Amino acid sequence: MTWRATVLTLFPEMFPGPLGVSLAGKALTSGLWRLEARDIRDSATDRHRSVDDTPAGGGPGMVLRADVLAAAIDAADAGQDRPRLLMSPRGRPLTQSQVKKLAAGPGPVVVCGRFEGVDQRVIEARHLEEVSIGDYVLSGGEIAAMALIDACVRLLPGVMGKQASGEDESFSEGLLEYPQFTRPQAFEGRTIPEILISGDHAKVAAWRKSEAEALTRARRPDLWAARPGQKATKSTTDG
Ligand code: ADE
Repeated sequence: MTWRATVLTLFPEMFPGPLGVSLAGKALTSGLWRLEARDIRDSATDRHRSVDDTPAGGGPGMVLRADVLAAAIDAADAGQDRPRLLMSPRGRPLTQSQVKKLAAGPGPVVVCGRFEGVDQRVIEARHLEEVSIGDYVLSGGEIAAMALIDACVRLLPGVMGKQASGEDESFSEGLLEYPQFTRPQAFEGRTIPEILISGDHAKVAAWRKSEAEALTRARRPDLWAARPGQKATKSTTDG
């Protein structure tokens, strides 16, 4: 079965958007994956096709109705066993290991939140897993869904030209990626590190590893502390 992303959104016209160009777009055109953007509003039942209402208990904004969203989910994945995600700044942060799992499965149903949120009852009743792409607030889940889908699609078999580039990149080994250089040899007085043009593959590999480690320590102490093979040690500041 072809890997498929089903997106439930109030703005289906936002798709494929950036997913229709470059690597993901070419793979979409050649049938390596499928994208289905469904309009949540098609599941509204009243005359005004309303999808939202004011929050119980008061407060600003509007909340996506449980009945309408539940009907949209049921219409989208009837009888299928696929991961159901809700893009939300409240979710657990998306990780590369979660992306790998999603890419290895049949492909998710992704709900894009809007307004102030989604009625909690539908999150529970339809077992939606809330996923965040970072600690900032977007105006809706669509761009977050695109980020998640893009991260999955590039890992599908046949999508990346050279499979190796999927393994030697940031996060795969728990480290950020080492710096890259290409021609010209001199740029505004800066030259390419000698080791990289030495032809000594072992030295190049050692240099890259140490650069990746130094970058990770400096920029992402959280990743450095949690890198694979690292025994969890008690920090001296823990008391
Ligand atoms: N919707 C709004 N902000 C979001 C975020 N940071 N991650 C996922 N979905 C969102």
